[in-house]
Amino acid sequence: MKVTVIGSGNLGKSIITGIASSDLFDSKNILVADKSDENLEIIKKQAGVSVTSDNIKAVKESKWVILCIQPRILKIVLNEIKNHITDDQILISTVTGVSISEINEIVPNNKVIRAMPNTAAVKLQSMSFICADNIEHEDVHFVEKMFGTIGKTMIIEERLMQAATVLGASSTAFFLRFLRALTQGGVQMGFHPHEAQEISAQVAIGAAALIEDGTHAEVEVDNVTTPMGCTIEGLNAMEHNGLSSAVIKGIMAAYKRISDIN
Ligand SMILES: NC(=O)c1ccc[n+]([C@@H]2O[C@H](COP(=O)([O-])OP(=O)(O)OC[C@H]3O[C@@H](n4cnc5c(N)ncnc54)[C@H](OP(=O)(O)O)[C@@H]3O)[C@@H](O)[C@H]2O)c1
Repeated sequence: MKVTVIGSGNLGKSIITGIASSDLFDSKNILVADKSDENLEIIKKQAGVSVTSDNIKAVKESKWVILCIQPRILKIVLNEIKNHITDDQILISTVTGVSISEINEIVPNNKVIRAMPNTAAVKLQSMSFICADNIEHEDVHFVEKMFGTIGKTMIIEERLMQAATVLGASSTAFFLRFLRALTQGGVQMGFHPHEAQEISAQVAIGAAALIEDGTHAEVEVDNVTTPMGCTIEGLNAMEHNGLSSAVIKGIMAAYKRISDIN
């Protein structure tokens, strides 16, 4: 079984690296197409995959075709490949903000699947969302396995894709800004900036690990808040200044914005 990836930029490289290191596809059955010779050379060396600058040739060879190109290029590439996509092929789009029906307006293939990873894909730590018209289909579960090679996945209905973009992708920036604020506090208490950042990042990883099994976050908050201790003092001071409220308002502002754009 073969897979073609069109676009080997930031995201394409991560996905290719993920699937090439898995047992889903043999490296020689991964075909990468790109206009950038430089990117093709890099990924060929890095993952041992086959490369070409010919999108049509690349599409003809594989059952699975993953599009990792910028939104402004999408129409150009869809028009280029539309007559070479058969009904047996699965077209997987990672292009942000473009719906299945918009893709179907150009390529009337009834097997379009959307996948939305986040920038941590480069560290194989993405939170990726997968949606399709029929989310129960076995092809959707195979795509879930592919994106499972670059982190965690969740199959959702397409109507939740915008919410998923905010919670699963924009939140990377929200967390990093919170981490920066922790770091600034750490520096004020006497740590060097690099030490404060290292501490804050490891605490974030540890906190996430504590709730990975589904434990409610507030159970772990209770575990660290000794009565009359420093943690509850700090936490309540943050809440009096609107921490939870500010985060929810931020999430909803981002959601309104993405809903206005699309
Ligand atoms: N980066 C992420 O973590 C992330 C997360 C979620 C969704 N996405 C989505 O994933 C898509 C790709 O993002 P990216 O960051 O990987 O973009 P990128 O780094 O710009 O990569 C796109 C690649 O496509 C190549 N390309 C341009 N025109 C082409 C054509 N006609 N045929 C074949 N290849 C062509 C580009 O070559 P040139 O450089 O020569 O133009 C580049 O190598 C976007 O739609 C984005 O919304 C990305």
